[in-house]
Amino acid sequence: MPTPLIAGNWKMNGSRALAEEFGRAFRDASLPEGVAVALMVPFPCLEAAGRAFEGGPLALGAQTLSQHPSGAFTGEVSGEMLRECGARMVLVGHSERRSLFGEDDAAVLARVQAALDAGLTPVLCLGETLEERDAGRTEAVVLGQLEAVFDGLDAAQRGQLVLAYEPVWAIGTGRTATPEQAQAVHGAIRTCLARYDAGLAAAMQVLYGGSMKADNAAELLVQPDIDGGLVGGASLKIDEFLAICQSAG
Ligand code: 13P
Repeated sequence: MPTPLIAGNWKMNGSRALAEEFGRAFRDASLPEGVAVALMVPFPCLEAAGRAFEGGPLALGAQTLSQHPSGAFTGEVSGEMLRECGARMVLVGHSERRSLFGEDDAAVLARVQAALDAGLTPVLCLGETLEERDAGRTEAVVLGQLEAVFDGLDAAQRGQLVLAYEPVWAIGTGRTATPEQAQAVHGAIRTCLARYDAGLAAAMQVLYGGSMKADNAAELLVQPDIDGGLVGGASLKIDEFLAICQSAG
């Protein structure tokens, strides 16, 4: 069984002061044994968050990175820069990056490779839109996004990723997937992974994201192929995020 991981994605929210509050609260909190927790914060919060999380359970992550290691790419941030700020993981292929910033499968693969080159754990996000679900294309879309990246990596690289299934229609809508809907896609992801390597399929953390809250986390996290959560809005409230982490034990 993979270690459960609850990761928060603040998106373009939060502040350095909030990161400091989270650091303090989580250092004093009692978390279930064996549950890993992380927060993906905006770039300007990284250093303060890194200091605030030291000595506590929270791992630090970023929300995107450049596909390039350095150079004339005004406004971009490299994986090495994120590591220097204390980040250990980074989201790649979040649906908001795909839909709002035009990141296609090739761009997602390039960023996964850049993250691995910088020694960061890429958290690769996958998910279908409502139109794709209604057209019966959920598995084709999600597994297509997965294969577009995994076919471009070698076996050792594949083993370093974390996956997150986030149905686009459940993100920020309050309309979470039912545990059965989520488990069905997670099961399909696991089966797809097994085609690469059975050990990889058994060990890979596959998180669910999309309107996960304290009051629906437990029923999702108890599903056999759901190994944790990627939490947006509810990761900005200490008590709510802590409650989700506690329900992963
Ligand atoms: P919400 O939890 O706000 O629906 O966001 C999910 C998400 O996109 C996390 O990456």
